Amino acid sequence: MSIKKIIGIVISVIIVGFLLIQLVPYGRDHANPPVQSEPNWDSPETRAMAQAACFDCHSNETAWGRWYESVAPASWLVQRDVEEGRQHVNFSEWDQGGKPREADELWEVIQRDSMPPSQYLLLHAEAKLTPQQKDQLVAGLQATVRN
Ligand code: HEC
Repeated sequence: MSIKKIIGIVISVIIVGFLLIQLVPYGRDHANPPVQSEPNWDSPETRAMAQAACFDCHSNETAWGRWYESVAPASWLVQRDVEEGRQHVNFSEWDQGGKPREADELWEVIQRDSMPPSQYLLLHAEAKLTPQQKDQLVAGLQATVRN
């Protein structure tokens, strides 16, 4: 077989595989369950910052709608982030177990730059917090938890 033929077969297999994985139903649901309870926010500004930086994965108000969220395998990664994120912290089910057991984690993850996740920030420039916004959100979350 010529090298051209082999390359042709490999490319065909990749294209067919890509089309086939689109048939997997996981990741298409894009559900936003009802909002049940939110923290007792210390200020509308704290909520707005958390909404911009955290709500896509830690609330029932995920802003779905980007095209790649419907294309596998990206859709699977996004779905998993939202499912896992809501399990750890859910600002829309605060009194139903959405508040983390260790409230300190809420600001520690911001202080050590592990949240929002870096792969998310690549695609969501609006969620990137300046150092001042970070300090503000940390202080706001601390006041909110004490409320
Ligand atoms: C792109 C989705 C996404 C965004 C945006 C996001 N998180 Fe997360 N978060 C996750 C996922 C997934 C996990 C669970 C797995 C992990 O820990 O990485 C998590 C875990 C956590 C945890 C549990 C602690 C831990 O390390 O396991 C806390 C607290 C948290 N996030 C806070 C936040 C805060 C505060 C923001 C906003 C500043 C935020 N997250 C933004 C996806 C996200």
